[in-house]
Amino acid sequence: MTDTSGSSRLSLRVRGLAPSPTMAMDSRAKALKAQGRDLVNLTAGEPDFPTVRAAATAAVEAIREGFTRYTEAAGIRPLREAIAAKLARDNGLSYRPEEVAVTPGAKFALYAAMQVLCDPGDEVLVPAPYWVSYPEQAKLAGAVPVVVPTAESDGFVVRAAEIAARLTPRSRLLVLNSPSNPTGAVIPPDELERIGEVVLRHPRLWVLSDEIYERLAYDGTRPRSFAALSPELWARTVTINGFSKAYAMTGWRVGYTAAPDPVARPLANFLSQTTSNATSVAQSAALAALGGGEPEVAAMVAEFGRRRDYVLERLRALPGVRCTTPGGAFYVFPNMRGVLGQGAAADGKVVADTESLALRLLEEAGLATVPGEGFGAPGFIRLSYAASMETLAEGCNRLAHFLEGLRRAG
Ligand SMILES: Cc1ncc(COP(=O)(O)O)c(C=O)c1O
Repeated sequence: MTDTSGSSRLSLRVRGLAPSPTMAMDSRAKALKAQGRDLVNLTAGEPDFPTVRAAATAAVEAIREGFTRYTEAAGIRPLREAIAAKLARDNGLSYRPEEVAVTPGAKFALYAAMQVLCDPGDEVLVPAPYWVSYPEQAKLAGAVPVVVPTAESDGFVVRAAEIAARLTPRSRLLVLNSPSNPTGAVIPPDELERIGEVVLRHPRLWVLSDEIYERLAYDGTRPRSFAALSPELWARTVTINGFSKAYAMTGWRVGYTAAPDPVARPLANFLSQTTSNATSVAQSAALAALGGGEPEVAAMVAEFGRRRDYVLERLRALPGVRCTTPGGAFYVFPNMRGVLGQGAAADGKVVADTESLALRLLEEAGLATVPGEGFGAPGFIRLSYAASMETLAEGCNRLAHFLEGLRRAG
């Protein structure tokens, strides 16, 4: 129907805005589960462990003590101090508490940073496969996302040369995410240095270093912070991190930015005019997590490492499936191209792409995964191993059984 009054016309900004495909798939799986369907859900972007105990206890105390009012928009001073101390201790980064801003989740920290740094027409370089929100958030800032490809054969590591080849006078922001969602790739220190050299050659370029999976790294890997490379690069980086993944606090919504004063100030102003503070009680919880969560984090990381090895072994045993070894995060990102194009003999419906593969896995095998299309990587699917060993075993069984059926159907 034609809208003559124009009253239903929405802003250009949101007209093309896609919902997060990871969240959409997760909601779909949860809805099916609510209808009583037997479902294995491997879409989760969150730890399946409980929130670290110290955080939960501190939150209860905060409520009891009536710590339930507005706080400073960029976060309570003790938390900003504790974050600055953490960044110095763990990441070799020197920020004053005033240069740290607490946000309602790292997702909003990224959004705020893009709003502060980008003008319409600016270009935001996003290595692919990418976390689904980077290009959409760039567009919300009026900027143009520019995809920087990585190669599966290279472990999906973003290379300095690929970044350099896509820089223009309009390039404003380079997004780095190591360890990466969805691939788990960790940028090795020598490549990070080379990326630093490229950034230094382009004075207008800033780096948004999303280090949300920093603590979840395996085989002794210790991801490095981009801003720690040199004072010159520190001065051009916004470091993003948060509590969701490391401390199993996704629902609490606490993230943060750390940036030099000329960006930290407008960022704090931006928060004061948009969200105001992150939830007071959640800030108390985050402060306690930094102080007392470590033993639980270590146990969680060890368990994720075991699960990663198990899932990799199971996937690699499947004909037509291959999978790189993720250095961090809690996802595997197998290449499924070897199984596409099959299934015709069963009902005439060939599985043509990974979007239809994920849908059929959900409907026919009761296995929820996320197709690679939303990550800029058709031909791949993302499975989260933030699930119990029993769930992972059952998920792998279902995948194997479904693919076997496809193969037989030719
Ligand atoms: C790469 C990446 N960055 C940021 C976030 C946002 O985390 P939160 O907003 O829960 O702090 C996520 C969550 O899935 C993520 O995967």
